[in-house]
Amino acid sequence: MSMQMIECDVVIVGAGGAGLRAAVEVALLAPTLNCVVISKVRATRSHTGTAQGGIAAALGNEEPDNPIWHAFDTVKGGDWLGDQDAIEIMCNEAPQGIIDLEHMGMRFSRNSDGKISQRRFGGHTRDFGKAAVRRSCYSADRTGHEMMHTLYQQCLKHRIQFLEEYSVTELVVDLGTACGVIAYNIMDGAWAAIRAKAVLFATGGKCRMYQVTSNAQASTGDGMAIAAYAGIPLEDMEFVQFHPTGLLRVGILASEALRGEGGILRNQKGERFMERYAPTIKDLAPRDLISRCIYMEGREGRAFVADDGSYYVGLDLTHLPAEVFEKKIPEVCSFARTYLGIEPRQEPVPVQPTAHYAMGGIPTDAKCRVRADHRGNFIAGFFAAGECACASVHGANRLGTNALVELVVFGKLMGRNAVEYVKGAQPAPWPKEAGEFSRQEFARILEAKGGEKVGAIKKDLRRLMMDHVGVFRTDATVTRALESLKELRERMRKVAIQDRSPVYNTALMEAFELRHLIDLSIIIARGALERKETRGGHARDDFPNRDDQNWRKHTMAYWRGDGSVELAFLEVNKTIEERDPEHFAPKVRKY
Ligand code: FUM
Repeated sequence: MSMQMIECDVVIVGAGGAGLRAAVEVALLAPTLNCVVISKVRATRSHTGTAQGGIAAALGNEEPDNPIWHAFDTVKGGDWLGDQDAIEIMCNEAPQGIIDLEHMGMRFSRNSDGKISQRRFGGHTRDFGKAAVRRSCYSADRTGHEMMHTLYQQCLKHRIQFLEEYSVTELVVDLGTACGVIAYNIMDGAWAAIRAKAVLFATGGKCRMYQVTSNAQASTGDGMAIAAYAGIPLEDMEFVQFHPTGLLRVGILASEALRGEGGILRNQKGERFMERYAPTIKDLAPRDLISRCIYMEGREGRAFVADDGSYYVGLDLTHLPAEVFEKKIPEVCSFARTYLGIEPRQEPVPVQPTAHYAMGGIPTDAKCRVRADHRGNFIAGFFAAGECACASVHGANRLGTNALVELVVFGKLMGRNAVEYVKGAQPAPWPKEAGEFSRQEFARILEAKGGEKVGAIKKDLRRLMMDHVGVFRTDATVTRALESLKELRERMRKVAIQDRSPVYNTALMEAFELRHLIDLSIIIARGALERKETRGGHARDDFPNRDDQNWRKHTMAYWRGDGSVELAFLEVNKTIEERDPEHFAPKVRKY
């Protein structure tokens, strides 16, 4: 099989918010550098485009706000696992990130003064937790869509080169230096080797292994898996965020913005149950807490029960003014009508926790440099940002609207740091064996014989992860999950695909991606089994409390080729807390 060699200075894998923001920064700072963006979907079709409710920044357009309050909320929201050097950068740089987008032409919603409107979102408060604050900038409930198109237009303006519908299959590293990637052209089955001085991963999330998820079909964790196969440990993978308000069964988000605009969660008895669990900010408590509360209401017989046994509650919007429906939440309401046949102006929308976000991922420092191990070494020339990466700004639980701001702040920083790196770098030698792994893997899938089907394995995987490594976990459920995951891995060997064509072979791509989902599920489950405490998105029924003495540390999971995982640990960065222990030292997390 022949392989086309493409030479460039910077290769960016992923064309979502972080990837495009990095590309724009490279073009602005170093227009003569040759920068290539690779995406397995068409540009503008990345999952960032589905983001609804907003992007956090302490602009103070609606009421007083301050980046340090934003940092406090992020540290507390992340249950004191977030790295504070990275959090401080994100919160301080967020206002500039919004101004950059505004200057690029992003169409934000405006208030009556003509300033960018801001609304409330879960866990965002003023004055170190005193009351909810309006911090989320937005474009109605299509913020990600507006952002993607703005950034893509900038890329066109700067003549960034795109390789669309190319799936990256391998990271090429030689002697601790990243040299490029191997990619498969989904359109015609050709292989390409992209050799670059700097490799930037912005490949997005991985929650498609869950039965109910808000994630796009493409969110199969490819970048994380590829990094793990290259020997890079993955950080904090046990922390999966369940957003409390996914539309029943389909999992598509009913944005937190609906509650930011005054929506109320009600149990089967019609009670505003969040008053019991978060008396100060009620329905605007963070996501991990509300998702757990929905399950607790269910266990105590106060939630609705769906036909598959899962719990759900009602999101009551019936009291909101017509103007809010028309101007601020039109898209989400149309989803409720289309997918559930519900008119949100007249009846509560049925919602349930939906797997939404990976807090863990490829480990980086606050400069987006990818860690080679848990001992402080880095892979030279390799950077990562966005959901595939773990900087870790979200710690154990991400606050709503902190994802988009992470993309723009760290996307920009990644672009800037890559340009700095490339200035002094020579192309690393290209290893002879590069691409072998990919070719063997694809040949194996195409030639495999057996009676197993990708669809059946995926269905079993998604049910398994939802039931056993979901909102609540125990030693017993996770142990069972690990045994079943091994079996799923075995079954994958017996998958025979019908389509052998090189042209748009979606069966081949699905089989390739499913391997990533299963292997990442094993890594999630191993971390979940090991971490004997409840923190943020990781809730253990058998260890219901946070254990700062033993567990305030990141897990670093090394994937071994035989399907096993070795765990090591990394210290949490505590720079803000060392300066200001009064506000930032860990406390019982109450809202
Ligand atoms: O609820 C939402 O609109 C989601 C926002 C986010 O995940 O940041």
